[in-house]
Amino acid sequence: MTGFTKAEIEDRGHPVWAEVDLGAIRHNVGVLRALAPSSEVMAAVKGYAYGHGNPASARAALQGGATRIGVARVGEAIHLRADGIETPIHVFTEPPPEAAGTMIELGLTPAVYTSQFAAALSDAAVAAARTVPIHVKIDTGMHRVGLPPDDVEDALLELRALPGIEVEGIWSHLAVADVPGHPFTSKQLELFEDVDRNLDRSGMRPRYRHIANSAATISMPASHLDLVRCGIACYGLWPGPAFVGSADLRPAMALRARTNMVKSVPAGGALSYGLTYGLERSARVVTVPAGYADGYGRGFSGRASLLINGTRYRVSGTVCMDQFMVDVGDDDVEIGDVATLIGSDGDERIAAEELAGLTGTINYEITTRIPSRVPRVYLNELRLNDGDEVGRDDGERDHGG
Ligand SMILES: Cc1ncc(COP(=O)(O)O)c(C=O)c1O
Repeated sequence: MTGFTKAEIEDRGHPVWAEVDLGAIRHNVGVLRALAPSSEVMAAVKGYAYGHGNPASARAALQGGATRIGVARVGEAIHLRADGIETPIHVFTEPPPEAAGTMIELGLTPAVYTSQFAAALSDAAVAAARTVPIHVKIDTGMHRVGLPPDDVEDALLELRALPGIEVEGIWSHLAVADVPGHPFTSKQLELFEDVDRNLDRSGMRPRYRHIANSAATISMPASHLDLVRCGIACYGLWPGPAFVGSADLRPAMALRARTNMVKSVPAGGALSYGLTYGLERSARVVTVPAGYADGYGRGFSGRASLLINGTRYRVSGTVCMDQFMVDVGDDDVEIGDVATLIGSDGDERIAAEELAGLTGTINYEITTRIPSRVPRVYLNELRLNDGDEVGRDDGERDHGG
């Protein structure tokens, strides 16, 4: 059992928390599996599972049918292994060569694209009397990390000669798959398939080829290959505006806070830093204990909507580090009522996409930036091995939303 219970949230006085529905993550991975039935699904759980929390989210993805896990940093993999997750864990970027020993020890699956890192891995694998499966990253046009397509064949010849190394896969990453039908995505896929054909001709085709992210998994079956690497869709969020409603995904996260002050402010008063929100008539003003240190950005000042008792209100004035205020007019809001900053309350819903649109960012950033000081409350957590629901009543942990 992981995360916090409602009782713990109350007892410890946590004023803001993230509810993460692990059942939604399991469901979403199932949807992705159905979309790519001939491929394995790797769940990208880097960035603390896009803010949803690890290891619980990683486990939920595995329970939903993912067979592999993807992270960006060795530290993220250490966290998952320490919790007993034994599935293959891919590390998307090369760490400094000094980390090679740790990667071998933890049985990780490194991305490789420099000869220096490959040599370090080989040395560490030989020292540990192990073989490390590597996935060679190819840069098909995003120009972040990876080998140029023309260099791959020579690189594989060298890599295959290194002791302790098994080239298990080749892979690449798409730059504009969030725009369905973009010609650059087809160009990247063609380049990748050219490399694959050449390797096949020279008898060096590895077991795994992969290039698809969530967007390509939903919109481009030709890109599915041997496995799809999905992040955002596992959490029920859309890879881009063009995808809204394109699959049966369920958002997994709600961000909620318990109001901690309600007062009447007379006409002529103004709210928060900078006094940017002036009251033309007296009103009830509610204080919500969430701020930019909780990932609720200052850019939401005066702009973002939130829900209290099923009614939509707007942030009134500047978001502070730990709190913000809301003019609720004459409405009857009490101290302790729950404010929903992301998620549903009654018939209303605040989507991460809505918040992202207000501040020129993407839903990925909205959830990923919610820091660890915001406790995660996991709903619908499964026991590790028996497939039964954990005996915690989710109604118990429904904080009023
Ligand atoms: C290398 C790699 N693969 C897969 C993903 C998953 O992408 P998405 O969250 O769009 O599905 C990411 C995320 O950015 C990534 O960096």
